[in-house]
Formats: sequence, C-alpha cells, structure tokens
Amino acid sequence: MKWLVDMLTSTIGRKLIMALTGLFLILFLTVHLSGNLQLLKDDGGKAFNIYAEFMTTFPLIKVISIGNFFFILLHIYTSIVLTQRNRAARPVQYAYLAGQSTNSSWASRNMGLLGTLILVFLIVHLRGYWYEMHFGGIPTQNYGGKEVKDLYAVVKESYKQWWYVAFYVISMAFVGFHLLHGFQSAFQTLGLNHKKYTPLIKAVGYGFAIIVSLGFALIPMVMFLKG
Ligand code: HEM
Repeated sequence: MKWLVDMLTSTIGRKLIMALTGLFLILFLTVHLSGNLQLLKDDGGKAFNIYAEFMTTFPLIKVISIGNFFFILLHIYTSIVLTQRNRAARPVQYAYLAGQSTNSSWASRNMGLLGTLILVFLIVHLRGYWYEMHFGGIPTQNYGGKEVKDLYAVVKESYKQWWYVAFYVISMAFVGFHLLHGFQSAFQTLGLNHKKYTPLIKAVGYGFAIIVSLGFALIPMVMFLKG
C-alpha cells in the first residue's frame, strides 16, 4: 500500500493524476454540452427539464456526479501541489523577453491563471443552476402527470441579463484555452508521444477545444437573442 501512496504523491504520480482527472473532466464536458444543447430546442424546455430531472435523480448518475466533484477538487489540489514544487525547484523564474518566441504556447504558460478563472466561473455557475436545482425552490412543470422542476425557466431567466451572457461567453474562452493545452498535455503525460500520432492528438485537441467552447458559448448567446 505504501508503494501506491509513494507513487501517487511523487511528481510523476501527481502529473498522472492531473492527466487522468483532466481526461475525466473532458468526458464530462462532452456529455454536459450535448445535454445542454437541448436548451436550444423550441419545446418550452420540456426535453431539457426531463433530461435534468433524470440527471439529478438516477442513482448511477448521482454516484458519477459525486465522482465528478471529487475529480474537480483533486485536479485543483494537485495543480497547486505541482506548482509549489516547481517554484521550490526553480526559485528564479524563467525570463521571457517581450516579442521573443518561446517553445511553449501562451495557454501552456498560463494554465494556473486559466484554471483559477474557470474556478471563479464554476462557483458562480454552480450557485446559479446546480444549487437551485438541488436546494432552491424552483417552479415545476407537469409533463404527462409528472411534476418536474423547471430548470429551463431558471436558465432562461438568467440569460436575459447581457452581463451574465457576457460573463459566460468570456469564461468559455478561458475553458477553450485551458483545453487547448490540457488535452494534448494529458496524452503526453500518459506517454502517448509519437512522431506520427502526436500531431494528430494535437489537431484533435485543438478541434475539441474550439468546438466545445464555441458550443457552450452559443447557448447563452442564442437564448439571449431569442429573449
Ligand atoms: C452555456 C454553458 C453551460 C450551461 C448552460 C450549463 C448548465 C448547467 C446546468 C443547468 C446545471 C445544473 C444541472 C443539474 O444540477 O442537473 C449544470 C451543472 C454543472 N455544470 Fe454546467 N453549464 C454550462 C457550462 C459548464 C462548463 C463550461 C463547466 C465546466 C467548466 C460546467 C460545469 C458544471 C458542473 C461541474 C455541474 C454540476 C454537475 C453535477 O451535478 O455533477 N458547466 N450546468
């Protein structure tokens, strides 16, 4: 057992935790986006509300949801430990000259900043929707004799405010940049570094980051314009 703890708390073990929790969160984002796109259906929110009801009451999804929160916290905690170790190992920062080209991208050098901004978004986001769905007194809709919480109405109401829409759209840019580096970095940590496949993983990562962030950003914008 000690070998496992030693492995998981070593620098390479922690990098592995970052990669695996990151890949799980990538999977979560894919499912979350495909579910959320139902907000754009012209059905008064019926499909989305039934989906949200299922996601909050089905026992297996409840377990996955607890895992999801645990992985988010683990991802954040591990990033802090790794950053502190890096700083301790290199008390003097690398010097960058303005305009000078470096081997690393802007996103890769600012993952901590991007992650912190996403955390701010996440706190506001969970308070607005997740908390309301679980603990708030939101109205219900009757679908075929079944009372279902009208989460669609909560989301629709929030996107009537332009500044809330702007906050979402800007936050999705942070998510996009975080994914731009995070996706390929996770595969690199897992050792999938290959002359032929690395450029492919990079291209898929870029495509994924752009599609997911634009897809998420589209929802508040379309709902705002529809009114
Ligand atoms: C337009 C963009 C988005 C919309 C409309 C949206 C909507 C929602 C809604 C309505 C819920 C509550 C669902 C429920 O409790 O059943 C929720 C939960 C959640 N959202 Fe989002 N979301 C968006 C983007 C994001 C992004 C980009 C992230 C991550 C960076 C995220 C992370 C989460 C998490 C972690 C939960 C809690 C899930 C759980 O219970 O396990 N969301 N979202």
